[in-house]
Amino acid sequence: MPAAPFIIIAIDGGAASGKSSSSKILAERFNLLHVDTGSFYRHLTAELLARQVAASDPDALQAALGAIQLTTRLDGRSACMLIDGRPAGDEIRGAEVNAHVSHYAAIPAVRSALLAYQRGQVDVAQAHGFRGLVMEGRDIGSVIFPAADFRFFLHADPVERAKRRAAEGRQDSITERDRLDSSRKTSPLTCPVGATDIDTTDLTLEQVVNRMAEAIATKLPPA
Ligand code: DC
Repeated sequence: MPAAPFIIIAIDGGAASGKSSSSKILAERFNLLHVDTGSFYRHLTAELLARQVAASDPDALQAALGAIQLTTRLDGRSACMLIDGRPAGDEIRGAEVNAHVSHYAAIPAVRSALLAYQRGQVDVAQAHGFRGLVMEGRDIGSVIFPAADFRFFLHADPVERAKRRAAEGRQDSITERDRLDSSRKTSPLTCPVGATDIDTTDLTLEQVVNRMAEAIATKLPPA
């Protein structure tokens, strides 16, 4: 019997568009590594803030980015990025990181520091026997894995997204982050040509997942 193919699924979209919830379920259903690249940008932002490296100081940024070591630990099916051996803390979902992450993420040197690390998650997934990976972010289908087997782009009405964050008990500057993430020069948030665009505003999580799972099942039977 031929070996099952290794599948790469890219899910991009704005804040609270449904990426994390749906990609975790897909990872479970198809036995995939789940990679939340937003958590990588958040962790790196928290680290730079802790080191008092300003986004406006290119030399200090370059020095800090060149000095840190990025490795991966698994947390269930999810890839957890370690910086110099340390996992992210709860502060990566807090107000300070929310306010700064899009500013750091707009800097080309910051994006380059994470590029190879993100692509390297394929090796992590293969080393742990996963059948593929599902990676969520802003530029996965456009920059990180433009040749991914499946590329989805999720979007939803801002009012609905704010409700979702409130239901999670979280405060988030969704609209402002989307504005910054969409308007930056390097790897902006955009629906890449050829990606499947899904408006999740009036869909349940189950409906969103099923829509993606139907497509994926044409290449990979559920685990
Ligand atoms: O997915 P999230 O909302 O946790 O992401 C936090 C921020 O990280 C987001 O506002 C922009 C940045 N980000 C990015 O620029 N590129 C990615 N692939 C993922 C996240």
